[in-house]
Amino acid sequence: RNPCYILGIETSCDDTSASVVSDGYKVHSNVVGSQTEVHSLYGGVVPEIASREHLKLLSPLVKKAVTEAGITFNDLSGIAVTKGPGLVGPLLVGVSFAKSFAYAKELPLIPVNHIKAHIFANFLSSSTNKGIYQHDFPLIALVISGGHTSIYYMKSYETCELIGSTRDDACGEAFDKIARALDLGYPGGPLIESEAFKGEPSIDFTKPKIDSKYDFSFSGLKSSVLNYLNKKKMKDEKFSVPDVCSSLQSTVAEILVDKTIKAALDTNVKTILLAGGVSANRTIRTQFTNEASKHDIKLCFPKLNYCTDNAAMVASLGYFNYKLGLTGTLDMNAVPNLTP
Ligand code: KG4
Ligand code: ZN
Repeated sequence: RNPCYILGIETSCDDTSASVVSDGYKVHSNVVGSQTEVHSLYGGVVPEIASREHLKLLSPLVKKAVTEAGITFNDLSGIAVTKGPGLVGPLLVGVSFAKSFAYAKELPLIPVNHIKAHIFANFLSSSTNKGIYQHDFPLIALVISGGHTSIYYMKSYETCELIGSTRDDACGEAFDKIARALDLGYPGGPLIESEAFKGEPSIDFTKPKIDSKYDFSFSGLKSSVLNYLNKKKMKDEKFSVPDVCSSLQSTVAEILVDKTIKAALDTNVKTILLAGGVSANRTIRTQFTNEASKHDIKLCFPKLNYCTDNAAMVASLGYFNYKLGLTGTLDMNAVPNLTP
């Protein structure tokens, strides 16, 4: 059908989201029901609470997404849903909803990988111009989120070859843990970013030494920051929270930029995509932009609201999967450790 409207559903962690996207790039609606308030009471996501919140929020959000798009359920060509990776309870809520909906409306059910969907946030635009074109492939995609820090080599829309990943903490996870130690709150990334704006990158935190070319490690850096804080507290010395945040942020940016540019140069690609919640960070975006331009590499990142979890990216990848005939059946299950 033309245009090809896909309904996207995202429930892999603590954001409930529904969206209508046509032809893989044009966003007609993207509604997100955040659960931050309930989880921040516990300093992190509580899986059972997240599942129950998804159950409460999802149906009304789907209705809202379709209404806001100015279409009816009958205009849809398919329903795309995150199958994994993520928390099993939250995933099951989205998958069960999508299966029932697909069955009731006799629509194709399209399973989507959450990490790959983050990459496809770069394909979204509300205008007729797409950010990425066929001729931008092959490209390197860096996914930086609360659960992942991975470099993929993508030859085309279909293929996603993992060439590097973190050996311990994801970089968003490191931000979240350090924010907790600084009593900033949850989620930590945006709070660290706003503190960092007031500070200087004056503290030298240990950078990881890893022999593998494109792999990351953030637990050493995290310990280096936590040790610094503990020493200061034990000696009853003052320290600057903005300086700690600024130093952490620029060290993380440096590590990410180094490895990703190296991967692009080694594989001789001319485009790098950033994706995932941490790609919303302005310092990281700027350091990438500066370094990429030195090497004549095109750098893309999603609009701010498509960096963190959302269903528009799910609907976008859903469209491409649908075109490739990658649809699911009604016995589909959630897969918490799914790989792209
Ligand atoms: O992609 P996402 O919404 O969920 C996952 O799939 O994990 O990413 C969430 C992560 C959290 O760790 C959060 O602290 C981090 O992204 N984050 C940021 C920023 N916004 C979100 N990190 C640094 N700077 C930001 N502005
Ligand atoms: Zn995510």
